[in-house]
This record gives sequence, structure tokens and C-alpha cells, in this order.
Amino acid sequence: MAKATPSGADPLAAYRADNLAAWDERAPAHARAAGYKVQNFLDDSSYLSDVVTFDLPLLGEITGMRGLHLQCHIGTDTLSLARLGATMTGLDFSGASLAEAQRLADATGTHIDFVQADAYDAVKVLGAGRFDFVFTGIGALCWLPDVRRWSAVVSDLLKPGGFLFIREGHPMLWSLDENVDDDLAVRYPYFEVAAPITDDYDGSYLETDTKFRASISHSWNHGIGETVTALLDQGLVIELLIEHDSAPWEALPGKLVEDAHGEWHLAEGRERLPMTYTLRARKSL
Ligand SMILES: C[S@@+](CC[C@H](N)C(=O)[O-])C[C@H]1O[C@@H](n2cnc3c(N)ncnc32)[C@H](O)[C@@H]1O
Repeated sequence: MAKATPSGADPLAAYRADNLAAWDERAPAHARAAGYKVQNFLDDSSYLSDVVTFDLPLLGEITGMRGLHLQCHIGTDTLSLARLGATMTGLDFSGASLAEAQRLADATGTHIDFVQADAYDAVKVLGAGRFDFVFTGIGALCWLPDVRRWSAVVSDLLKPGGFLFIREGHPMLWSLDENVDDDLAVRYPYFEVAAPITDDYDGSYLETDTKFRASISHSWNHGIGETVTALLDQGLVIELLIEHDSAPWEALPGKLVEDAHGEWHLAEGRERLPMTYTLRARKSL
């Protein structure tokens, strides 16, 4: 449900504070939630998250590479990338998320460097030109108001020849009103605009045991063309851009069915809606 936007000297700082409170409160519940399958990582040293398993055919070989997971949350995908042989750093602004990520890395005997910082400050805290790849997505870009600023950060983080790998919620999906029961209804901006989409919701995108007090969050959509153009303007070469008719979470409750691999797609007419996309872009040598 849309709410009034915060007033005051720096609305972006106020939006960020709301989002941080929401993520800090959700992180421990997510680590306990069945959906993140944390126990599978503890039980099986070769287990990979559904997200990274889906990515594998497009990701390519990462053994021996230095990788950065931007907005790594509780670190399940970061750990999966480490298990594929990459030396991983995970960055997130949520200390509670990183505490869960560190706990999982320690419990599985995996060395991962976790760094608490805003995504926009990643170059400041990690240094420029250090990574063979930057991995992000599945609900990451939508928390950042400016896709052009993000693309400059990603480009600066990469070594020459390094690549960005993102599988992200499709802007067409983010533009839909999930509360309309009997149809797909476009309600929110497809294109990036300054004003955020503000939600008041005491739950999460997956089932947890908790009603959350930090219910307000603010997000921004970024059209496919805007994201691609922002990366091209940084001089990155787009190597692939593939739209998928499924997402790894129940993005439109009541309208989707889940397959055996944890991917959700429209129960009827799945060809109507791109739900996620994968993009790989490379920095020139
Ligand atoms: C849905 S998670 C995405 C991560 C991953 N796909 C997952 O599901 O585990 C979004 C993450 O972005 C982080 N985040 C949101 N805004 C951020 C910002 N401005 N800087 C750094 N991290 C941010 C949150 O703390 C959260 O951990």
C-alpha cells in the first residue's frame, strides 16, 4: 500500500534508514525460514542455493576468481559461489544480515570476507579494479534509487576483463499490483523515477515465523533499457541478456505455481510475463 513520502532535509537518507531497519529485522527470521534452506548448506558441503544452481549455465567457470557479491543478505548465494571455487567478498548495509552470513560461513568452514557498507560506497571501502566478477540480484537493484550511479560503482569495482553477473526481478514484474486477484494489473512505474514505491507490510517475500515492526520500505524500478544503457555508458560490453518467465520467489501470491527447482511462474499463460532477467556484461581489457 502506498504511503506518504518522508519530508525533511534528506528524503533519500530517510528512505535508506527505513529500509535498513526493515532488513535488519528480517535477517534473523530469513535465516530461520525454510525458504532460504540454510540447513541444507550445513548438511551437505556441496549444496548450492537454488538461485546459483539456476545461474550456473550462464555464469561460466569462476574457480580461482575473486568475486564480490553486492547486497549479499544472509550469504546463501555468496557461500554457493565460494563452493564453486571463487574467493568471495560479500557486501551489505545490514549488520544483522552480515551476522547471519558470517555465522553460516563459520559453520560451514568457509572463508568469506563480509563488509558492511552501502552499495554506493563499495569502491570507497573495497578499492577500485579488484574483482574478476561482481554478482548481484534477486531483489537487490530495486533498493537503489539510481541505476546509473550503481553501474558506475560496478564498473569501477571490476578488473579490466572482469564481468558483472546479475539475475534480477524484471521491471515489468515490479510494475504489477500483486493485490489485484483476477488479472495482471500495471500499477507502479516501469521506468526509474525519483519518488520511490513505498510499502507498508509487516511480512516478507517468504514465509517466516515473525510479524515485523519495521514495516515501511521504499524501492525503485529500473527499466531494462535504462539498466542496459547505464552499463553501456560505462563502456561495459553486454554479453547476454535473457528474460525468464519464472522467479525464485513467490512474487505474485495466488497467481503462481512452483516447479521442482524452486522457480515460480504464472499458473496460466506464463508466456505473458517476463519475471526475471539475466544479464552478463564485461569490462574491456
Ligand atoms: C533480497 S536481498 C537480496 C540478496 C539475495 N538475492 C538474497 O535473496 O539473499 C536485498 C539485500 O539488499 C541489502 N540492501 C538494501 N539496500 C542496500 C544498500 N543501499 N546498500 C547495501 N545493501 C543494501 C539488504 O540489506 C538485503 O540484504
